[in-house]
Amino acid sequence: MNLSVAMFSAQRYDIDLFTAAGAHTPVTFTFFEARLNLTTCALARGYDAVCVFVNDDLNREVLRELSALGVKHIALRCAGFNNVDTQAAKTLGMLVSRVPAYSPQSVAEHTLALILTLNRKTHHAYNRVRNGNFSLQGLMGFTLYQKTVGVIGTGAIGLAVINILAGFGCRIVCHDPAPAAAAQAQTNARGGCYVSLDELYTQSDIITLHCPLTHANHHLINAGAIEKMRPGITLINTSRGALIDTQAVISALKRRHIKALGLDVYEQESSLFFSDHSLEIIDDDVIERLLSFPNVLITGHQGFFTEEALNQIVATTIDNLGAAEKGETSGPGFVVAG
Ligand code: NAI
Repeated sequence: MNLSVAMFSAQRYDIDLFTAAGAHTPVTFTFFEARLNLTTCALARGYDAVCVFVNDDLNREVLRELSALGVKHIALRCAGFNNVDTQAAKTLGMLVSRVPAYSPQSVAEHTLALILTLNRKTHHAYNRVRNGNFSLQGLMGFTLYQKTVGVIGTGAIGLAVINILAGFGCRIVCHDPAPAAAAQAQTNARGGCYVSLDELYTQSDIITLHCPLTHANHHLINAGAIEKMRPGITLINTSRGALIDTQAVISALKRRHIKALGLDVYEQESSLFFSDHSLEIIDDDVIERLLSFPNVLITGHQGFFTEEALNQIVATTIDNLGAAEKGETSGPGFVVAG
């Protein structure tokens, strides 16, 4: 077996890690910096599979085109698969695999980094002290101890967040329409409880999102939801940008209803994230408005970005590619099986 794979949105670290790991396997990767979309999918001609990331666009037309080019397998090197039309893939007889839980702790720890930085304003303190400004004015935070944190989505990452927050002595309320039995047991063991979304909104001092993006929860955090939240809420999203209606959040920041906002993901991130635009004029007025608030902290989708997580992503992606070749597609990594 020799399997040829076209990797899209390839960064230097992808090239290094996948080349090294692929050398001991029958999988050969060809790397393209381009994002996969209708314009670039012709690059996949002659490859058995494509390997894609969070901002590649695998809509119905792209999948049709890939299928016509002979591509049989969409191997996502991430957990979320909201960017793939899985129904179209099924109809076309294409396999779709992903890396379900490569390191939930990586994203959970980044979530805490956003909460702690925003709360204790260490990013402002760092700049002040470097400029010889040792004033504490404006840097006052609050203790996390005994604060109520609302966790939306109690899968692998949500649970890892709950475990860390329990260590801070936080009270935890959660919402998940279909929590696994093990998740409920673990949440209860940490003193957490499941509540309705409205209860979560009204009770929480901090709300953090850990559910996948679906058609049903697009703009879950909209003007109506924000209105139900306590004034002074800290809102964190390390899941997917479109879970939040960004305009509604900007309006709530201007009204001081939202006290702090931490984002690792952004609705329109695909045209910005993972590239250096520092010497360009950025046309996106929405992100520019967000960046103008001193109480907003944005990172460029780096929650997953730890050594351990990347090694796991590489190993599982190569396993998924190999398993597909052997017709073994019943494992948890396959979103659309053969
Ligand atoms: P998971 O599949 O283990 O858990 C997701 C949980 O969300 C499930 O328990 C599910 O029942 C629940 N859920 C589904 N719809 C919901 C809704 N409307 N409201 C509340 N809960 C809902 O997923 P995991 O591994 O915990 O990842 C969660 C999300 O985190 C991914 O879908 C992805 O979008 C994002 N992610 C972000 C990364 C980053 O680098 N920032 C890296 C990896 C994942």
